[in-house]
Amino acid sequence: MQSLISPQLLKTQSYINGQWHSCSNKFEVINPATNTVLVEVDNATTSDLELAISAAKNALSPWSAKSANERASLMLKWFNLMIEHQSDLAKIITLEQGKPLAEANGEIGYGAAFIEWFAHEGKRAYGDIIPSPSSEKRVLVIKQPVGVVASVTPWNFPNAMISRKAAAALGAGCTFVSRPSEKTPLSALAMAYLADLAGIPAGVFNVVVGTDAIAMGKILTEHPDIAKFTFTGSTQVGKKLITQCASSVKKVSMELGGNAPFIVFDDADIDAAVEGAIASKYRNAGQTCVCTNRLFVHRGISEQFTKKLLHRVNSLKLGDGFDEHTTMGPMIDERAVENVHKLVTQSIEMGATLLTGGMYNGNYYQASVLSNVTNDMPIAAQEIFGPVAPIIIFDNEDEVLRLANDTQYGLAAYCYTNNLGRVWRMSEKLEFGMIGINEGIISNPAAPFGGVKQSGTGREGSKYGLDDYMQIKYVCIGGL
Ligand code: SIN
Repeated sequence: MQSLISPQLLKTQSYINGQWHSCSNKFEVINPATNTVLVEVDNATTSDLELAISAAKNALSPWSAKSANERASLMLKWFNLMIEHQSDLAKIITLEQGKPLAEANGEIGYGAAFIEWFAHEGKRAYGDIIPSPSSEKRVLVIKQPVGVVASVTPWNFPNAMISRKAAAALGAGCTFVSRPSEKTPLSALAMAYLADLAGIPAGVFNVVVGTDAIAMGKILTEHPDIAKFTFTGSTQVGKKLITQCASSVKKVSMELGGNAPFIVFDDADIDAAVEGAIASKYRNAGQTCVCTNRLFVHRGISEQFTKKLLHRVNSLKLGDGFDEHTTMGPMIDERAVENVHKLVTQSIEMGATLLTGGMYNGNYYQASVLSNVTNDMPIAAQEIFGPVAPIIIFDNEDEVLRLANDTQYGLAAYCYTNNLGRVWRMSEKLEFGMIGINEGIISNPAAPFGGVKQSGTGREGSKYGLDDYMQIKYVCIGGL
């Protein structure tokens, strides 16, 4: 176990109503770099979850009654504490999730930035006064917090996926119950410790860690005291959770799977495109919803691009995230490795050519590139969630647009070109919620993150992200 400057950040119990909550059963948290047990954590039950929901309900009225400035000042303390403890929080991510320490540091900066952003954005939850059709009446619109919010978040960004939901919720005046992935509970609990230290009142931010994902998901989606449910994860699970939310007509935000096209035209800056592809494809060992899933390269530059890409891919250093030379860490577990390898082998059987990689050892999957790929091969048709780049050659804009849009997903897309007209055409015609033009890393708290089609609904980050945690109330003043 890595030593922490502040060992008290390492918590192993759920945080409910401002208290650390013990449970009789435990579960193990595994370090994906070594497949060894890091620590045992108290395994919360559905009754513990009910306690957290009730705490969030009780805390709602006093928290929403605070002014946005009062909430902001507590949230900014929380933000500052996260930055102060950035190196420890990053170590905790690397320990339980595996990403290289530099990336983990980046995630803490990214996650904390949502808390800072929404602390301020909460002050700008403006309403409207609408010109009335009647001279005796006035039409007013106010925005109010939606209520208690429940979240279910994945293991790929154990800090940032929680902070970007919780920050918007708290900034809007909602209270929050978080159920993080049981693979990465420690980052969430460390956030709870710092929220407590910052003075966020008991019941406003609760973290319940337990292994019974299905039973907990059912409660969080069906409980009458929860007004909004927010989820980041696969489209398949998201669909089930949306259905469950229907029973009590909850507001939902769903950040689901992706199948991002990364399109390189023959007028692009090839070196910049290679760097963008490396960042977008191989960060977090490819385990990101917005990762490049299909690399479309114009025939005219395909040889040159592929040669440069291979050179960069082969320079990536696979290893333990704590090794300073490591640029790509392990995958989360063997199941994840097997899923990726299956897509690779099936696609090779269908005619794809392995240019590099394709081997694994335990949780470590080599950075890989496949060529001669077509859109219908499993490696292109399905979300890879691993470090494999399938190259598909195209000849013209219409063809690549058709191929890129030919997916049920619509999260992120990337396009490299120096033609201004094409920038506009691609931005407008790509059926995705987020478009990176000559840029492989697009996420930040000021931007609306979210998808179209089966990649989800709702936006996180930005002024639109605050709206997702508020409801609109219309007030009609008559008798004037
Ligand atoms: C995700 O994988 O869902 C989030 C990635 C990001 O925030 O950039």
